[in-house]
Amino acid sequence: DAGDHESFMHKEILEQPAAAERVLRGRLDQRFATGHLGGLNLDARELREIKRIKVLGCGSAYYVGQMGATLIEELARIPADAEAASEFRYRNPIIEPDTLYVAVSQSGETLDTLLAVQEIRRKGGRTIGLVNVVGSAIAREVDGGIYLHAGPEVAVASTKALTNMYLGFAMLALQLGRVRDMSIADGRRLIGALEALPRKIEEIIATDDHLAGVAERLAEAESLFFVGRVRGFPVAREGAQKFKEISYRHAEAYQTSELKHGPLALISPAVPTIAIVPDDELVERNVAALHEIAARKGPLVVVTHDSVPLRGIKAERIVVPRSEVELDPILLTVPLQILAYHAARHLGHDIDKPRNLAKSVTVE
Ligand code: AGP
Repeated sequence: DAGDHESFMHKEILEQPAAAERVLRGRLDQRFATGHLGGLNLDARELREIKRIKVLGCGSAYYVGQMGATLIEELARIPADAEAASEFRYRNPIIEPDTLYVAVSQSGETLDTLLAVQEIRRKGGRTIGLVNVVGSAIAREVDGGIYLHAGPEVAVASTKALTNMYLGFAMLALQLGRVRDMSIADGRRLIGALEALPRKIEEIIATDDHLAGVAERLAEAESLFFVGRVRGFPVAREGAQKFKEISYRHAEAYQTSELKHGPLALISPAVPTIAIVPDDELVERNVAALHEIAARKGPLVVVTHDSVPLRGIKAERIVVPRSEVELDPILLTVPLQILAYHAARHLGHDIDKPRNLAKSVTVE
C-alpha cells in the first residue's frame, strides 16, 4: 500500500533512513570495532583466508556491487571487483577456492544472478548473498549472507534496497578489514560514520524542492552525461541507470577521466552533464574536467560537498553532507534517485512501472 504517496518509488525513497537503521541494527560491534555478521557462516580464520572478492549482480545491483568492491579493496585491502552476473558464466570464469563470491540482489530471484551462483557452486566456489527477500531463490542457494531488511520494494526503480546493499558491503568490508590490518581506531571511525548515515540521508531527502527544480530542467534534455571517477564512477552509472529507467531520456555514464578520449565531442548546450565531485583526493582533477565541459558550454549539475571550490564555473550545485570519504558514494547516490523521480514525474510517466521493464527479471 503506497498510502498517501503518489508512487511507491516516492514512498521507498523516503523510507531510506529507517531502512538503513534496520540493516545496521545489531550488526556493529562497538567493543571490537568490527562488523557482526553472523549469517556469513565464516569464522575469523576463514575470513582471513579469503584472497579475492568477486561481486556479481545485475543492473543497479551490479553498480552497487562495484561501489562495494571498491569499498572492500580500500578498507580490507583485498583485491575485489564486480561483474555483471548476466555475463559471468558465459566466459567460463576461473573459480578459485580462496575467492569469496558475493551475489547481490534485491529480489533474490534474478535468474542471471541465480545461474551465476549455481555455476560457482558447481565448481566448488564459496558464495554469500546480499539479498533483500528472505527465503528467495538466491538466499536459499548461497552458503551464507546478509539480509538487507529494506522491507518490501515495489517500484521497478530500486532505491532503499540499493542503499542497504551498500551498507551491507560496508559492514562486510569492516569485518574483513578487522581480521586483517585495520586498526581499532579506523574501525571505530567507520562505525561512527555508518551510524550517522541515516540522519544524513534524511538531510538529503529534505532538499527535495531544490532537487525537483533541477530535475525539471534536466528532463527537457534528450541526452545527458553522468560522470564520476573511482568511487564516483559507479555512482554515475547508477545515476544514469535510474534516470533512463523512468524518464526514458538517454543517459550515459562515463569516467570523468575518459571524457577527453571521445565523449567530449558530444558536449554542447543541449547535453547536460551531472558530475559527481566529492571532496576527496581527486577533487582538483574533477574540477579541471568541469572547466573542460563548461568551456564547451555544456550545462553542469555538480553533486558535491560544500567545501569543493568550483572556481567560477557556472554550475548548479547539489550539496550532500560529508561522511568518511570511503562512505561518500551512498550519500552522493541519494540525490540522483530524487532527480530521476522528479524528472519522470514532470514528464508524466508511470513512475512505478516504467515501460518494458519488470521488477524482477526471472528470464535469461
Ligand atoms: C534497478 O532500478 C533496476 N530495476 C534493475 O537494474 C535491478 O536492480 C536489477 O534487475 C537487479 O534486480 P535484483 O536486485 O532484484 O536482482
